[in-house]
Amino acid sequence: MQIPCTQREMDLFETVAGAARQVGVPCYLIGGFVRDKLLGRPTKDMDIVCVGDGIALAHKVAAMLDPSLKVNYFKNFGTAQIRYKDLEIEFVGARKESYNRDSRNPEVTPGTLEDDQLRRDFTINALAISLNKADYGQLLDPFNGREDLQHKLIRTPLEPGATFSDDPLRMMRAIRFASQLDFSIVPETFQAIADHAARIKIISQERITDELNKILLSPKPSVGLDLLYKSGLLKIIFPQMTDLVGVEMVEGKGHKDNFYHTLQVIDNISRHTPDLWLRWAALLHDIGKPATKRFEEGHGWTFHGHDAVGGKMVPRIFARLKLPQHEKMRQVKKLVELHLRPISLTKENITDSAIRRLLFDAGEDLEALMLLCEADITSKNRAKVKRYLENFEMVRERLKEVEESDRIRNWQPPVTGELIMEVFGLKPGRIVGDLKNAIREAILDGIIPNNYEAAYQYMLEKAKELDLTPVK
Ligand code: CTP
Repeated sequence: MQIPCTQREMDLFETVAGAARQVGVPCYLIGGFVRDKLLGRPTKDMDIVCVGDGIALAHKVAAMLDPSLKVNYFKNFGTAQIRYKDLEIEFVGARKESYNRDSRNPEVTPGTLEDDQLRRDFTINALAISLNKADYGQLLDPFNGREDLQHKLIRTPLEPGATFSDDPLRMMRAIRFASQLDFSIVPETFQAIADHAARIKIISQERITDELNKILLSPKPSVGLDLLYKSGLLKIIFPQMTDLVGVEMVEGKGHKDNFYHTLQVIDNISRHTPDLWLRWAALLHDIGKPATKRFEEGHGWTFHGHDAVGGKMVPRIFARLKLPQHEKMRQVKKLVELHLRPISLTKENITDSAIRRLLFDAGEDLEALMLLCEADITSKNRAKVKRYLENFEMVRERLKEVEESDRIRNWQPPVTGELIMEVFGLKPGRIVGDLKNAIREAILDGIIPNNYEAAYQYMLEKAKELDLTPVK
């Protein structure tokens, strides 16, 4: 076997090979599984291609492994899947395939192994391992995919324009693999992406966003994002991002390039968290800058309110990209809105109430917010970076102190709306909300302590101002 495998995998290959002999079809391991084994990366899905009926082979394999196994198959595509323990095994008949220019539906006809390898996206994904008696375990590599793996290159087996026309999503896949594996795209292939970028429009948003998320989850997302920008794809799939590109000069004064700053922030945060939504927050933290950019005489460039404007843009961006609309979107929106707050607390003479407000507003996302703010420091001046980080450390200390004395995070004011209604015989309405807010604000501002007795007393005083009397 020319790939490193576990005993369990070897046993499984034997079973598949036996089933293929019985069905009378040559079969091969192919695609990402072979690639990842050669790279020493963890593998999950196993792809098997056979010269013949892939669905029949899947049924045979399932029967041999465990007769109660379910085979999911798609007759139109000639593919079948088995979920065996923690492994997803996919079977497909070798095919020649080409896509209609204006649709996503492939036209498929049966083909040889080489036809099948040729229609795959990249040489590194076209590597096959034989499971047939004559050359069992041998690597079949007609396009030098192994060499490309060694040299860390992404290259299409066909003339790249043809490969990308067949399925334009492959342009995003090329960039995603470059970012995920730290590979380079060969110039001819990259040029074809730039030439065919507009074809991405025929691809569904879900598939595009899936690749975008994989780029964001890669070790250094800036690699993929910069390639998306340079190929022209980013302008089509996410124009708000390319609005961040560039530096404008007035009276000899420029501002930083917000696109490249953003890429640096994502790389910074990615060193500290694998969380996709924190990486989205980093990607979007300055998205409100183009809309708020002004040049103020004698002062220079400002982006006043870009935090609030950026926060407002998040729901629309998430909707357009078909990202989740609820909890995760709200978290990203909140982080974008609050991303300037911790830095404002690094000044001197910050009151407890300012600290308390941040604890309250950030709630359970406080740690995420601090990570974002630390990642946002991208100065090239080491002394400056050190100073900022030390200041943040002080803010963390203060947050901890106030939190410990107040326990304000995930906090609900000690007097509830229900209690207010009960005490004054009120129905739900504005007055109840006003009273509740007044109590909350008084606690956050440190006017009264954070306990029930003080809050109750304060409620009675405020109610008096509103001519309300308790009914009991
Ligand atoms: N493939 C292709 N064109 C596509 C998608 C997939 O040619 N647009 C082929 C490639 O040979 C790929 C294989 O199908 O290796 C399996 O596809 P998939 O599971 O989507 O990708 P992997 O390469 O396995 O990588 P990952 O799981 O990281 O997406």
